[in-house]
Amino acid sequence: MKLLVVGGAGYIGSHTVRQLRGAGHEVVVLDNLSSGHREALLEGVKLVQVDLLDAEGLRAALAAHQPDAVIHFAALIEVGESMGAPGRYYRNNVVGSLNLLEAIAQTRVVPLVFSSTAAVYGTTDDVPIPEDAPLRPESVYGETKLMTERMIHAFHAAHGLPFVVLRYFNVCGAAPGGEIGEDHANKTHLIELACLTALGQREKMKVFGDDYPTPDGTCIRDYIHVQDLADAHVLAVEALERGQMTAATYNVGLGHGFSVREVLDAVDAVITEDGLPVLPRELAPRRAGDPPRLVADARRIVQDLGFKPQFMDLKEIVRTAWEWHRRHPHGFEG
Ligand code: UFG
Repeated sequence: MKLLVVGGAGYIGSHTVRQLRGAGHEVVVLDNLSSGHREALLEGVKLVQVDLLDAEGLRAALAAHQPDAVIHFAALIEVGESMGAPGRYYRNNVVGSLNLLEAIAQTRVVPLVFSSTAAVYGTTDDVPIPEDAPLRPESVYGETKLMTERMIHAFHAAHGLPFVVLRYFNVCGAAPGGEIGEDHANKTHLIELACLTALGQREKMKVFGDDYPTPDGTCIRDYIHVQDLADAHVLAVEALERGQMTAATYNVGLGHGFSVREVLDAVDAVITEDGLPVLPRELAPRRAGDPPRLVADARRIVQDLGFKPQFMDLKEIVRTAWEWHRRHPHGFEG
């Protein structure tokens, strides 16, 4: 198939481009490079530099490349930032996605795979979280993803747009081999921060709260390896192409959680094997908005798409992230 990957120069997008190419698909990346990296693209992958707010440019790109399907990753992704800059988030994520949907409807209706998030659920006692749990986002970021999901449903009803929505849990790790990986301007993710601390770029690791109602008192998350997540996109787009489904929403996680302490222990285990000391840790106050447990009920994607994550072992997951950061201590810039 020929795929247009919107946001394909970003963290998850670039890993997905590699898995799509590995599965024999042709890929064109559309990205404004506001947070993505040209260096993350494989050699030979065409980059169309267009912003989602440029409706005319989008239409022209779709008309020129005539993809068989579109995968849409492009978004601003920081929960904290979204609360202080709601306008930017609604405009970029909601208006940008609307422009993309309209451009698809106006050129040729082809299947769409959309990046959504566990942040659409908000705090829930229903853990592991099934896809039909109540949708109560607690951040502007989560709200923009839910609004986009709803627009996709409306375009499905009105224009027959076939779609798969993937709701990601905690995405982490890097391509084994360490060629590409996570490189956000603003670092907030636990495993990335721990690796940078091991490289001496941070003084210590803060544990945000140890009085949560969990076995060791720290928050539990469902850490899904970025390459497994990328494979979920390949499965989704191929199932849409076959006509196996025309409208589906899936959680993407392992269905199993790890606590902040378990993650930091795994990082310690990996870095001490490389002769480094364990990370200095400090207990810090709870971070606002962190629910105690976020774990996916991921049975639906396993059943429907045959999703089978390869990275089930936390230490293995951490090792791939460490390999990327060790080789690229300053990300794509060096
Ligand atoms: N944490 C620390 N210390 C740190 C950084 C994080 O203790 O220095 C803790 C957090 O408090 C949280 C856990 O580690 O309990 C994971 O935090 P991350 O920032 O790595 O990830 P989040 O769970 O906050 O959020 C991520 C994505 C969201 C997505 C969510 C879904 O960033 O977009 O997973 O599960 F919605």
